[in-house]
Amino acid sequence: MSVQEQINKIIKNFQKINMQDFVQISNFEKKLGFYNKEEENKIGVKGHFITSPEISSIFGIAMCNQFINKNPKATKVHLLELGPGNGHLTNDILEQMHGHKIEVLSITLLEKSEYFKKKQIKKFSKIENFSIISDIDEFHKNKDDLVFVYSNEFLDTFGHKQYMYRNNNFYEVFITIKKSQHLLTLESSIQSEYIKKDYKYLDFKDGDILEHSPLIDFFIGSLNRNIKKYFFTTCDYGYTDYSKKSTLRALRDHKKIDLFEFFEGVDYSFSVDFNRLTKLFEPNESEIQSQSSFIKKYAPNFFNNKTSDEIDIIKNLLTGTKENEMGLIFKNFNSRNYD
Ligand SMILES: C[S@@+](CC[C@H](N)C(=O)[O-])C[C@H]1O[C@@H](n2cnc3c(N)ncnc32)[C@H](O)[C@@H]1O
Repeated sequence: MSVQEQINKIIKNFQKINMQDFVQISNFEKKLGFYNKEEENKIGVKGHFITSPEISSIFGIAMCNQFINKNPKATKVHLLELGPGNGHLTNDILEQMHGHKIEVLSITLLEKSEYFKKKQIKKFSKIENFSIISDIDEFHKNKDDLVFVYSNEFLDTFGHKQYMYRNNNFYEVFITIKKSQHLLTLESSIQSEYIKKDYKYLDFKDGDILEHSPLIDFFIGSLNRNIKKYFFTTCDYGYTDYSKKSTLRALRDHKKIDLFEFFEGVDYSFSVDFNRLTKLFEPNESEIQSQSSFIKKYAPNFFNNKTSDEIDIIKNLLTGTKENEMGLIFKNFNSRNYD
């Protein structure tokens, strides 16, 4: 059954599907979901979109330098990448760790996509102490061992629920079908009171949209329960000023498409709410900065060295020159759970 048929079946049975479930099915349906569908290239120049670790190793160098800067006494570490895709970032970080004489005790990739798992096995299976897990609850290390947890464009793939504020209440956004057309519809939500309390620091007006991912809340909760000593860093598409609009994007072959234009071969993603992330990591202290500041701070040599046309293109892609480029709309978030 195609992704569209599966979604239509749910709508037929329940009259609707919420945004979170729509995105989770579209992205992760076992055979035909975006991240599982067999195809030559998914991420990269020849894929549907390109990511920072695919552009340059400078990104991994910056992440490793940040780890060393924040953990200057570390001599041994477990590596855990969340959502590694083609695995370039772990490759680059591993190389950097060796260069800095930091012993890598184990490498774990948390990956949900069967398509990417095959690529990762091909790349890393000869490395000692390498494993792939599908669930963060499978990750167990000694409580005193330091774990370096890192990711790029991981949390933006998590489904979010969407709500619209009206007359002092939040209504949930659903997808339904009328006259063979997929449409958005609103329904009053029993979660409205809970959401109002949880997001009371924001001032909502009629028509504003609130996006909330119970899946991200649950994931960060599990990470905090399972890993006793970590340094966590991630770069993602997101915001610190709540836009109160839908951030759901649908991408196919490097182009933005309309929500219901295609149901397959589409990467759906949301912008990450970095203030929410800060709250989820409390009582740990967290830091948020633009990807541009992050790379300039932790890979300064790359910026100070003589440039070529190729290096200029990489610099601009990673750190941005305009509002809509990676460096400014992408942010780095980091946190650690020990002193
Ligand atoms: C947008 S891709 C980014 C890949 C890579 N980090 C990069 O920057 O090129 C998202 C990755 O996260 C994985 N992923 C998304 N949600 C996941 C989850 N809940 N558990 C494990 N992996 C997940 C996807 O399968 C994919 O490998």
